[in-house]
Amino acid sequence: MCGIIGFTGCGRAKDVLLSGLSALEYRGYDSAGISCFTGDGKITTIKSVGKVSKLKTQVPEEFSSTCGIGHTRWATHGGVSQANAHPHSCGRVTLIHNGIIENYLCLRDELSATGRTPVSGTDSEIAAMLIDSLYTGDARAAIAAAAARLEGAYAFCILFSDQPEKIYCIRKGSPLVACQTKMGSIIASDMVALLRYSKDYFVLEEDLIACLTHDEITVTTLDGRTVAPDYLTVTWDVSSAQKNGFNHYMEKEIHEQPDALLRTITPRLVKYVENGESYMLPDFTADGIPDSLFLGLSRIVITACGTAMHAGMMGKILFEELLHIPVTVDIASEFRYQNPILSEDTLVITVSQSGETADTLAALRLATESGARTLSIVNVKGSSIARESAHVFYTHAGPEIAVASTKAYTAQLAAFYMIAFRAAFAARRLSIGECAEYTKGLSLMIPALTKVLERGEEFAAISRHLIKATDLFFIGRGMDYALSCEGSIKLKEITYIHSEAYAAGELKHGTLSLIAPDVPVIALATQHNVLAKMVSNIKEVRARGAFVILVAAKDAGIEPELYDFCIELPETSDRFAPFTAAAVLQLIAYHTSFLRGLDVDQPRHLAKSVTVE
Ligand code: M6R
Repeated sequence: MCGIIGFTGCGRAKDVLLSGLSALEYRGYDSAGISCFTGDGKITTIKSVGKVSKLKTQVPEEFSSTCGIGHTRWATHGGVSQANAHPHSCGRVTLIHNGIIENYLCLRDELSATGRTPVSGTDSEIAAMLIDSLYTGDARAAIAAAAARLEGAYAFCILFSDQPEKIYCIRKGSPLVACQTKMGSIIASDMVALLRYSKDYFVLEEDLIACLTHDEITVTTLDGRTVAPDYLTVTWDVSSAQKNGFNHYMEKEIHEQPDALLRTITPRLVKYVENGESYMLPDFTADGIPDSLFLGLSRIVITACGTAMHAGMMGKILFEELLHIPVTVDIASEFRYQNPILSEDTLVITVSQSGETADTLAALRLATESGARTLSIVNVKGSSIARESAHVFYTHAGPEIAVASTKAYTAQLAAFYMIAFRAAFAARRLSIGECAEYTKGLSLMIPALTKVLERGEEFAAISRHLIKATDLFFIGRGMDYALSCEGSIKLKEITYIHSEAYAAGELKHGTLSLIAPDVPVIALATQHNVLAKMVSNIKEVRARGAFVILVAAKDAGIEPELYDFCIELPETSDRFAPFTAAAVLQLIAYHTSFLRGLDVDQPRHLAKSVTVE
C-alpha cells in the first residue's frame, strides 16, 4: 500500500528516488511523485498519475538535488488523480505517507477553520496541514505533537522547507527501514529499495523519530532521547530482487521455488540418533521455537489473508490429521470482530509473506492481548508481525516482488508441514521413524516440483484455451479443495477472469447451475482417498458440457472422455501433491495473463503489501 523512499547525501537524489520507486512499485502504482530540495530552501515537486516509468519521463535529466522524497501510490482516500498524488505540501511542510489516517475528517474540519484549505481528497494532505500547524521551528516537537493527534496507520517522510537537506520520518503500523551508506542516508518502505546500496539496515521502531542528514541518521524518542537502532543484515543480494532474464517477476519467482523450499527446509533438518539409528527430523531450536509450544493445546487458530490464508487451510488439514487437535482458519479481517475464543492453551498461528498485512497484525495483537500462544510464519525479516509474535518461523523464500504470491505460498506450505511433523513428534503422535519418513517425503517433493517447472510449454498450450473465458471453476476435495482456493485467487487476480473454487461435492447444492457448455473447470484429483468421489463430481460437470482440465495423480486412471486436457503430476505421496499441483496452477494463471496481454506483475487495483485495514 504505497511505497515511500527518502534520500539525502552526496549522490543524485533523483536517481536514488526513481530507482527506489521502481523497486517499490509492487506496493502501488496508481500515481507517483518526488519532492526535492533544489536550492535556497526551494522544494520542487514533480508528480503524475500512472506508473513510475511515466514519472521518469517527466523528471528532467539535469534535475539537480541531493535530498528528496518519493512516493508510489495505491489509492485509498481519494481517487486516482494528479491532485491526490503524493508528495503533499502545506506551508513549510512537504510529506509522503503510507497508511490511513482514520480521524482525518475531524482534523480537516479543525484545520480548515485555521485558514488551511486542502487541495486534494487525501488524508495525507491533512497530516501535512496538521504538522505545519504545529511547526514553530522544532521539527521533532511538531511531529511528536502531530503523532499524538493522528489515529490510524502511517509512515511519513517529511521535508521542512527551512531545514534543507534533512528528512524527518516517523511510523505507526506501516513499515520503514533505513540504512547509512558512504553516499548518504536512505529510508524506504522495504529493503528492496535499499539493497543496491547496503545489506545492513534497521527497522525504525514505532513512535521514534528519525532525522536523516548526509552523514548520519539520528533516532530519538518522542520526548527527544537518542536511541541506538539495532542493525540487521539481509542474506540475499540485489539480483534476488531483479528479473534475471525472466519476462516477469512472477515467472522468475515460480521458478525459484525449489531453491526457496530448500532454504526453508534444509537448515531445519537435524540428525537425531535413537537405538543406534540416525533420523533427520525438523528441529526449531535455532528458531527459538520450543516443543513445549505444541504441548497441552486445546486448539489451534490460524489467521491470515489471501494466499497466506490458503496455506493455513492446508495447515489445518495437516494439524488435525497429525495432532488430533481442533483447528480453525480465520480470515484475519474478520477475526477480531467475531469474538474469538482465545486462552493460554490456544496456539494462534499468523501467516504473512510481508509480515506487514494490517489485518493479520491486528489479529496477532488481539491474540497476544488475550494471552494465547503466538507463532508467526513470515517471509520478511524484521517485519512488524515477526517482531510482535512470541515465536517466528521465517520462510526464507527471498524477496517476492510480483503481486501474485507464488514462492512465498509454497514456502508457507513447507513451514506448515514441518511444524505439523515436529509438533506431532513432540506430542508423541508420530514416532521418530514416522516423523523422519514424513520429513524425507517433504524433501523428495523438491525434485518433483522441479520436473513440473520444466513443463512450462505444456501449460502455456493449455492456457490458450482459457484466454476467452469469462468464468472458470476450480474443484477439488480435501487438500485439493484448499489448493483450489489458491488456484482461483491466482487466476482471478492476474487474468481478471472471474473464477470460483468449490469443494467438489458442494457443486450440486447450487453452483452446478452455472456450468454450461464450454465453461472451463479445473479439476484437481491428486488425493486417492477421495478419488472415486472426485470422479463422480467430474462426471457431473462433464455431463453439463464443461471444458475440463484435469490435474491428477500419475496413476489416477480417469477415463479420457471426462476431460479435454490431463496434466499428470510426477509421483509423490498424496500428502505432498499440493506443491507440484500449486506450480501447475501458478503457471496456468501466469501464461493466461501473459496471453491476454495483461500486466502480470502489477494487476489492476491491487498492491503487494496491504498495510491498511
Ligand atoms: O503479505 P501477506 O502474505 O500477509 O499478504 C496477504 C495477501 O494480501 C496476499 O497473499 C494476496 O492474497 C496475494 N496477492 C495473492 O497472490
